[in-house]
Amino acid sequence: MFKPEIIEKFRQIPTPFYYYDLDVLNVTIGRSVLEAGRYGYQLHYALKANSNPKILKSISSAGFGADCVSGNEVQAAIENGFPASQVMFAGVGKTDHELRLALQYGIESINVESIQEMEVINELASGMGVKARVSLRIIPNVDAHTHRHITTGLEENKFGILPWQFDAVLEKLRSLHRLELQGLHFHIGSQITDLGVFKSLCERVNEINAWFTEQGYLADIINVGGGLGVDYSEPDKCSIPDFESYFRVFSDLIELEGRQKLHFEPGRAIVAQCGSLITRVLFVKEAVNTRFAIIDAGMNDLIRPALYQSYHKIENLTSKGEKRKYDVVGPVCESADCFGKAVSLPETKRGDLVAIRSAGAYGQTMASRYNLRDLAGEVYSDEI
Ligand code: LLP
Repeated sequence: MFKPEIIEKFRQIPTPFYYYDLDVLNVTIGRSVLEAGRYGYQLHYALKANSNPKILKSISSAGFGADCVSGNEVQAAIENGFPASQVMFAGVGKTDHELRLALQYGIESINVESIQEMEVINELASGMGVKARVSLRIIPNVDAHTHRHITTGLEENKFGILPWQFDAVLEKLRSLHRLELQGLHFHIGSQITDLGVFKSLCERVNEINAWFTEQGYLADIINVGGGLGVDYSEPDKCSIPDFESYFRVFSDLIELEGRQKLHFEPGRAIVAQCGSLITRVLFVKEAVNTRFAIIDAGMNDLIRPALYQSYHKIENLTSKGEKRKYDVVGPVCESADCFGKAVSLPETKRGDLVAIRSAGAYGQTMASRYNLRDLAGEVYSDEI
């Protein structure tokens, strides 16, 4: 919900732009740190969700580590206050250049996803005269029950190492003297709202961790990834995810040995609700069986609805008219450029301001310049 004085300020700003409410961000950060802190759990923020420097600084200053998936993310994490000793680098296809950068910084862990990658890292580390701390990204075969594009922990997904490869991986590890096994890494998917899924994850992690321990590999870090979902239908009422119940699932079920530490990599849960995409209505057009509200933000600014058919709450900020139904679409030359069908909005006209809510995660970071469109701006609540 936006206060009238904020909406007045929005009127002066060229659209489309991302608006970040730093109060929501800071309360979310504070709550996640508090709830994780009860159990001594370490949080690594997944930069892919949002990598704006200002947001990164707020998160790093709260003591988070960083979860990165490219050399540029590793660089951005370090430039924005995450200590290299708390930076993880995951990803199924890392280039030699990116791996060298990670080794130069001496980051906390490179999460390896295949035997071939282990060999390459060993060779690069040897050439640089350093040791590489690595974690094994493991496919636990747990179904996240989320959209198929954001499910990552199943056998058919490209991510990680499968259990039948464990023996070969350990044999390889014994022969690669530049690698130090630091941890076991799991991430099963994103926007998970059924906590039962995390219970299944805990069971698999316990089995796998026990197996490695029996083989003489006690991993210091058990990293259970991210994935906690947010409430896209109630961005105001449920602006803070239920971190309490989430961490409690792990505290109840996960079995750690001795010095093992549990790590989490939340992305969406930290930043989704603080961001909204603010856009203007360009035209309203009657059509067969529907009525289009054509806005000046497009799928290039926020691709989630087009790519995952995901729901984002859409609000007309400047009309109090009678409710009508609109297909809210963007200007991009694709029929998929649609933010919502049959959306109930107060009577909407050219010039109205529209907010697309819960856009702080995987909004700006997934933007493109398709159709040579300019990238949306960004505006922070403490700057207007
Ligand atoms: N750790 C790893 C290894 C990941 O691959 C991801 C997300 C995360 C952590 C953070 O997950 P989160 O807490 O944000 O769920 N673009 C999609 C989401 C892709 C997620 C990719 N991996 C979307 O807009 O829904």
